[in-house]
Amino acid sequence: MIAKVVVGVCFAYLVVNLFFLRLQEPTKDFPDDEEHFNATLSNILKPRSPGSKGHDEVRDFLLLELKRLGFDTHRDEFVDEITFTNVMGVMNLGSPNYLMLTCHYDTQRKRGDNFVAATDAAVSCAMLLNMAKTLGPYLREVFKNRGDIGLVLVFFDGHDLLELSVDGENGLYGSRRFTESEPLPLENIEVMIALNLIGAPNQSFRSHHESTFSLHKMMAEIEEALIAEGHMQKNHKLFHIVQDHNRDFEDDHYQFLNEGVPVMHLVPHTYPKVWNTVDDNAENLHWPTIQNMNAILRRFVHQYIENHDDYVSFRGD
Ligand SMILES: *[C@@H]1O[C@H](CO)[C@@H](O)[C@H](O)[C@H]1NC(C)=O
Ligand SMILES: *[C@@H]1O[C@H](CO)[C@@H](O)[C@H](O)[C@H]1NC(C)=O
Repeated sequence: MIAKVVVGVCFAYLVVNLFFLRLQEPTKDFPDDEEHFNATLSNILKPRSPGSKGHDEVRDFLLLELKRLGFDTHRDEFVDEITFTNVMGVMNLGSPNYLMLTCHYDTQRKRGDNFVAATDAAVSCAMLLNMAKTLGPYLREVFKNRGDIGLVLVFFDGHDLLELSVDGENGLYGSRRFTESEPLPLENIEVMIALNLIGAPNQSFRSHHESTFSLHKMMAEIEEALIAEGHMQKNHKLFHIVQDHNRDFEDDHYQFLNEGVPVMHLVPHTYPKVWNTVDDNAENLHWPTIQNMNAILRRFVHQYIENHDDYVSFRGD
């Protein structure tokens, strides 16, 4: 009888312990660092058209920050009418496959001293750095033992035209330069994800390319999961599982698309109301969207790398 009770108590003790052990298992969650995001954004949020003082400052800031976060940095200065500089950070250089995330850091010329282009694309650039910061310890550790995948962040220059553009026409000097000079072999880029125009109210995101529809769905599922876990700010849903594969608009990814690199355009369905005006500033940003996008992107990159194996291909072969 006593033996039975002892066994019973021991068993219960074991169950309770296992239960708490499970609870204490480190979740694969990486906390926000909004202080870092805000500081990063404020370093970028200034007029930064090619050739200006602000442009030089932002270029140097990006390089410094990438280095600080553990990336190998690459600064590609080139002349195409005027001088431009692409900025790149690579983790696991020499990998046969890269997950590449990009934004453009230049602003349009001739739009005045107060034109800071918050959604176009200061927020996107700050998001990339914030992702690398919040995943930092994981990224630095995981790439010590991985031969299958590397991470690349590219900050393109010369996205905008040198003259005032009217209806969304672009210069794409930086992305053209990249695909022509191949600082990384294009065939090693598993997927190129271009972020732009993020951070305004009422944004929704659709899939624009069949080859990367699975990644779009992954973003939507991550958003659902984060909401269910209570990790999201109160906001409307950002990712919609909608195949808008016949429609997209020109951005840096077009250069890569032309070269057969699988692309994803992480861009809202509609242009921000303040787009190309001096009101595209910090005041008019929509913070729940930014906070939630940061959380989604972070988990996306983590899952992409965690679940990656040697046989991932979006090239349809
Ligand atoms: C970041 O900036 C936003 C907008 O100014 C503000 O609402 C938020 O509290 C800031 N976050 C931190 C951690 O300072
Ligand atoms: C966003 O959508 C809401 C509800 O549909 C609307 O009231 C608001 O004016 C919209 N805001 C912007 C900036 O488009």
